[in-house]
Amino acid sequence: MQHLSSSIREKPETKRSRVQSLSVVELQPSGYPFRIAGEDSPIALLTDDVELFQAYAREQWAGIYIKKGDYLFDQLVFPDFAFKVSDTHPNQGRISFSTRFILKRKPLIQEKRLKVHFSDIVGQSEAKNKCLIIKKYLEKPEAFGDWAPRNILFYGSPGTGKTMVAQALANETNAPFYLVKSTDLIGVNVGDASRRVHQIFKIASDNAPSVLYLDEIDAIGLDRSFQNIRGDVSEIVSALLGEMDGLSANFGVVCIGATNNPVIIDKAIRSRFEEEIEFKLPSMEDREQILRLYIKKVPMPVKADLKKIVKETEGFSGRDLKDKILKAALHKAILQDEKCVTQEIIDSILSQLNEKSSKEKPRMFT
Ligand SMILES: Nc1ncnc2c1ncn2[C@@H]1O[C@H](COP(=O)(O)OP(=O)(O)OP(=O)(O)O)[C@@H](O)[C@H]1O
Ligand SMILES: [Mg+2]
Repeated sequence: MQHLSSSIREKPETKRSRVQSLSVVELQPSGYPFRIAGEDSPIALLTDDVELFQAYAREQWAGIYIKKGDYLFDQLVFPDFAFKVSDTHPNQGRISFSTRFILKRKPLIQEKRLKVHFSDIVGQSEAKNKCLIIKKYLEKPEAFGDWAPRNILFYGSPGTGKTMVAQALANETNAPFYLVKSTDLIGVNVGDASRRVHQIFKIASDNAPSVLYLDEIDAIGLDRSFQNIRGDVSEIVSALLGEMDGLSANFGVVCIGATNNPVIIDKAIRSRFEEEIEFKLPSMEDREQILRLYIKKVPMPVKADLKKIVKETEGFSGRDLKDKILKAALHKAILQDEKCVTQEIIDSILSQLNEKSSKEKPRMFT
């Protein structure tokens, strides 16, 4: 294979004396140029020994002329694995035996700040109150002593605001907030998930006081009776149990787990949650308030009978009201070149949804 790196190496060879050497090169591991369809993409590379990586990198890339945006290909340990040159100093030049390499790593978890406020969330007062307590704890942990909030479980139907409450908490506190989708922790190899569970708890406790929000926690806290179906269940559960127990001794990490399905969570894990907070589907009043809230944000006037929509949407979540009704109605209005969302459009969306759900119901009992 003709490597891009070797073609870069050849081009400026003639003017070698005028080319400056690079003092720093920052590399981002980028993976292979292609993969077999259906195969998982390779896990990003990292190094445990920065100095050893320097020596290794210089050994194979010294003499190559590069600039930001180029790729360097590994030729020895993982042949053809690509590293993107994400920065250099100076702007371009030749890698020399004194070039310093920085290997950038995509963080396993990132601190998230989103523009969601508690005032945007309709209902779910129990969860909002709990979050206010957590906020107070993060501001003044010493006031709580050994009585700090530790592990809390949010559960309930999809689209009822669990993630939204977590985002509002993140937004309204200055403490580090780590929002982790538990399914992202499951890797390609056995052992990946338990290692990552330890890593995220370590990051959270290194930065305490902090909040660790494990969305879809059932993916890593699955009941151990599922071990026959997924071979690594016991291992991940043990890792999670160890970390959750560790929190009672550690000072400063509040762990919130969220799930649609608490029943499939391992019993030992479930018992570690000091409090379970249910997110209920919105009541009539809540549905009206949610509709009012989002109608204001629809980029076109909505001229429809709110009470009628509320009556016909029992069992709808906040997400359903927003996406299945208002967004669908807006799209239809745009398609029909209307200047506003009319009652007629809303009615047609509602009857479409009714039709769909009446077709789907019998299937649930087969
Ligand atoms: N109580 C609510 N008040 C206002 N908006 C809501 C409410 N519940 C849901 N929504 C809207 O629905 C969207 C989806 O909600 P969210 O992602 O928080 O649900 P979830 O409970 O985390 O669902 P899942 O279990 O599927 O992860 C929100 O971004 C928001 O726009
Ligand atoms: Mg969610």
